Amino acid sequence: MPESVALVLWGTDNLKTEGVSIAQALALLGAEARQDSYGRVVGAKLTPLDRLGRPRIDVLVTLSGIFRDLLPTQTQLLAEASWLAATADEDPEQNFVRKHVLAYQAEHGCDIEAAALRVFSNAEGAYGSNVNYLLDSGRWEEEDELADCYTQRKGFAYDRHGKVSQQSDLLNRVLEDVELTYQNLDSVELGITTVDHYFGTLGGISSAVQRARGERVPVYIADHTTGGAGRVRTLNEQVALETRTRLLNPKWYESMLDHGYEGVRQIEAHVTNTMGWSATTGDVSPWVYKQLSETFVLDEQMRDRLAKLNPVSASRLANRLIEAQERDYWGADDDSIDALKRAGEDLEDFLEGVTGEVAA
Ligand code: BEZ
Ligand code: MG
Repeated sequence: MPESVALVLWGTDNLKTEGVSIAQALALLGAEARQDSYGRVVGAKLTPLDRLGRPRIDVLVTLSGIFRDLLPTQTQLLAEASWLAATADEDPEQNFVRKHVLAYQAEHGCDIEAAALRVFSNAEGAYGSNVNYLLDSGRWEEEDELADCYTQRKGFAYDRHGKVSQQSDLLNRVLEDVELTYQNLDSVELGITTVDHYFGTLGGISSAVQRARGERVPVYIADHTTGGAGRVRTLNEQVALETRTRLLNPKWYESMLDHGYEGVRQIEAHVTNTMGWSATTGDVSPWVYKQLSETFVLDEQMRDRLAKLNPVSASRLANRLIEAQERDYWGADDDSIDALKRAGEDLEDFLEGVTGEVAA
């Protein structure tokens, strides 16, 4: 039984699923929606411990800026649920929220209202962790810089009255207790390697946990894309699944290439997002990069096709794989990395108009 977990909640997902992730956060806390006499949801209430039959789990909820804007009453409801748990007259060994809140109060001497804050997002009017932009720029040395970026952007706590305050110290302390991170996936349209927001948010918080604890914790994806009961995968399994079914699947990449310029850009974006997962979680298998290199860069015909459809993205793709090697994410052998670098130079020469053909 974990004492503390971190969840990523997006606005659109919760609208589409009618609040599945909100319900998960409440269930972990041992809380429910509280309704008024008209049946309207007006807040949270605790499920009694004897009915819960297990301890209350401490839940760090990180909201996208879109969730915060679209669902302000649900934001308050989540904050109220952790406050109720923190202030319940219960054995701390049966209530890990209370256990951690009391410990934080003892360390910092703050009031329980502040120590019980567990709903974090951006400052008002701000969106995104920006970990995706930092990653894309390549202008970072240590993975901790990604964690810093995340906690600076997402270090704003929303309380049960809807008030926001910057709570960087509290966030960093709560992160130390987190034993796993997870996010739901609700649509087959988008995977965790399709858009950069998944590694920006779930990856971002995972790297922040790693920095706070000094060790990695498991990262999980709950796949609800096929209806029914859903299925939980490790991050490593989810990236492997998407790599096999999308990026390395000829049906997928040939369809992308039918779209010409944009298709190549999509392929490159998937490769960059994959590296985003290595940078934030360290949990992408080396074979992923090896096979991507062989399929899209070391294969001369494919390299030529990509370059002619979209020379900018083709060159970026090769450089991203080289960057991933330089950051030690896949341990390529010397011959492969030499071939990759030569191919990268050819692509750049083609892009710059030095050569009219991508050299063989
Ligand atoms: C959201 O709905 O919260 C969201 C959508 C796309 C990217 C990030 C967040
Ligand atoms: Mg050059």
